[in-house]
Amino acid sequence: MNWTLARRAERLNPSLIREILKITERPGMISLAGGLPAADTFPVEAVREASARVLADTPREALQYAASEGYGPLREWVAADLAAQGLHADASQVLITTGSQQGLDLVGKVLIDPGSPVAVESPTYLGALMAFAPCEPRFVPLASDDEGPLPESLRAARGARLAYLLPNFQNPSGRSIGDARRDELVAEAQRLGLPIVEDNPYGELWFDAPPPRPLAARAADAAIYLGSFSKVLAPGLRLGYLVAPKAVYPKLLQAKQAADLHTPGFNQRIVYEVVKDGLLARHVPTIRALYRARRDAMRAALERHLPPGCRWSVPAGGMFFWVELPAGLDATALLPQAVDAGVAYVPGAAFYCEAPRAHTLRLSFVTMEPERIETGVAALGRVFAQALHALKEVA
Ligand SMILES: Cc1ncc(COP(=O)(O)O)c(C=O)c1O
Repeated sequence: MNWTLARRAERLNPSLIREILKITERPGMISLAGGLPAADTFPVEAVREASARVLADTPREALQYAASEGYGPLREWVAADLAAQGLHADASQVLITTGSQQGLDLVGKVLIDPGSPVAVESPTYLGALMAFAPCEPRFVPLASDDEGPLPESLRAARGARLAYLLPNFQNPSGRSIGDARRDELVAEAQRLGLPIVEDNPYGELWFDAPPPRPLAARAADAAIYLGSFSKVLAPGLRLGYLVAPKAVYPKLLQAKQAADLHTPGFNQRIVYEVVKDGLLARHVPTIRALYRARRDAMRAALERHLPPGCRWSVPAGGMFFWVELPAGLDATALLPQAVDAGVAYVPGAAFYCEAPRAHTLRLSFVTMEPERIETGVAALGRVFAQALHALKEVA
């Protein structure tokens, strides 16, 4: 049979990260590639008890089809939790999604037509590029500095359907947007009539101080906010949420109904049981402490082992270091050598919608214990030093 694929299917590509993750399953491989939370942080006991309670108290409701908007008490909880962060929304504006990845997919379907300009950071989250790409947008990369995207760069995106922004501990760069820059970006977006899609799965994983108020808290009805339980509880639950202005919520809901009717009600009830008594307030600080120690271990290892000319900035939260190799080195080309040396990373090229900066790469500091971070970064240091040496020989 000769299958004729839809045009949008041509735009679906294997995720480079998922391909690399297959390599990392090889025994002994030190993976600094995947964005996997440390599995020791999963609150297994709390989830076990909550599952038992749900099955004992409301087994038939939990196993029945459920509302597309999500489980009411969980929506209320999300609205209250966001209000504590300065984002005031009614529970009726909360849509529970099957991971925030689904939120991105729904946003794409509802807002992007073929050829629509869509403003994105550069680099940006690969999964968002993948979710939006089948809708055939014209990506407009935003120029940025260490503080985040430049407000004036939004002007080049005038008329865009949305600006996709990651204000906290960005995946992949680890960079956060400061308080003043948030105000400037929102003011400029509002002046241009440009809707903001704010993706915030890492905001709770701060090490020194909580991040400034979300963009959506400053943008009233001009922003869609995406959140997730993946990094504070466990990604296998596949639970995320979005908060949308009333003008666009019904369409997102209809797109959700078309996609999967609803997010598993059983999981939603389990998560509600877990969070309702304040487990996150006790649990998340333990994740922060563990990740902070691992961030420090990677920072020390980078300082010790990477050859001169490599640069990185130290993330104040989240899960990633973003490394720039000396000009002339290509992180994609060097990956097979790193894998042969027993360590994997994600080449930065994957995170660009335009011509990539080939000498960049992303390292996750949370999945591996400090000793393995040390061994892995030392191996990377040797691979990069050798490549640098070879480059100088040629020159
Ligand atoms: C920036 C960003 N957005 C969204 C997601 C998707 O998360 P989930 O679908 O597990 O909520 C991720 C996952 O790593 C991410 O890094």
